Amino acid sequence: MDNDIDVAWEDAREANRLNWDDRASLHEQSYGIEAYISDPTRVSEQVRADAGALAPFLPHHSVEGLRLAHLQCHIGTDTISWARLGAQVTGLDFSEASLGVARRLAAHHDEVDFVQSDVLAAREALTGSFDVVYTSIGAICWIDDLGRWARQIAALLRPGGLFHIQDGHPMLYALGEDDGPDPRMRYRYFPTGRAQTWDDPGTYLGDGTVQHSRTYEWPHSLAEIMQSLLAAGLVIEHFDEGQTLPWRFSPAMVETGQGWAWPTPDRIPCTFTIIARRPKQS
Ligand SMILES: C[S@@+](CC[C@H](N)C(=O)[O-])C[C@H]1O[C@@H](n2cnc3c(N)ncnc32)[C@H](O)[C@@H]1O
Repeated sequence: MDNDIDVAWEDAREANRLNWDDRASLHEQSYGIEAYISDPTRVSEQVRADAGALAPFLPHHSVEGLRLAHLQCHIGTDTISWARLGAQVTGLDFSEASLGVARRLAAHHDEVDFVQSDVLAAREALTGSFDVVYTSIGAICWIDDLGRWARQIAALLRPGGLFHIQDGHPMLYALGEDDGPDPRMRYRYFPTGRAQTWDDPGTYLGDGTVQHSRTYEWPHSLAEIMQSLLAAGLVIEHFDEGQTLPWRFSPAMVETGQGWAWPTPDRIPCTFTIIARRPKQS
């Protein structure tokens, strides 16, 4: 692949952090955060759907009163959504600019706090243990070492606690976004340890551009994702694949009212969801 590259994790992470700091102010405009401020009961569609998937695995089918860690929380729209469903939430992200927006958004939420950290150092950065660890769309492509990521999650969970992830499907990320409704496999599906580098001044919402356009991402296959969670000692309780996305991956995608989908949605997976549990005896 011509965008495959060997890069040190610290260098790649710093380039990515600068890019996310730039995106924070753009997303402050494009994420519709006024709606969360004017309506204190508003919950994001992402969290509403994820809470529904998680409910059958929770003691009282609800996060009410539970401690939840939101990894890679970005500008906090999902973080405050969990708080509005009754959880006590800590959001973690490495982008101070993102957390600045998140803190303003959560100004009236005493049950929410935010911590700046690399997600690969999350265990050290956060205090205590959590009933639920949560991360969603657009998270793991920024991480090189999924084994270390999964060990952070396992160590954050209390025995019996649950991990929930919904993220972009690795099959989707291997496709060409500009190939029209019949996309070709253009990128690696399997991990090799090497990063893929991009130089894109745009972002996934709105027309704004960033100053730091160079980013590094790592493809992770479904097998690698599941094996890293299993190797960290978690038990997979639920797995699913979805046909819609919260952003327009390709100009060929169409808005369905429940997100963006390919014109023939049953041909290409868009998301995957895993719910995993730290065993009680661990
Ligand atoms: C696509 S966003 C997550 C979006 C989230 N699902 C939402 O819509 O709010 C990815 C987030 O991961 C964060 N991030 C990327 N690499 C990270 C790292 N190594 N440690 C902590 N946060 C990281 C970025 O700052 C960004 O806020």
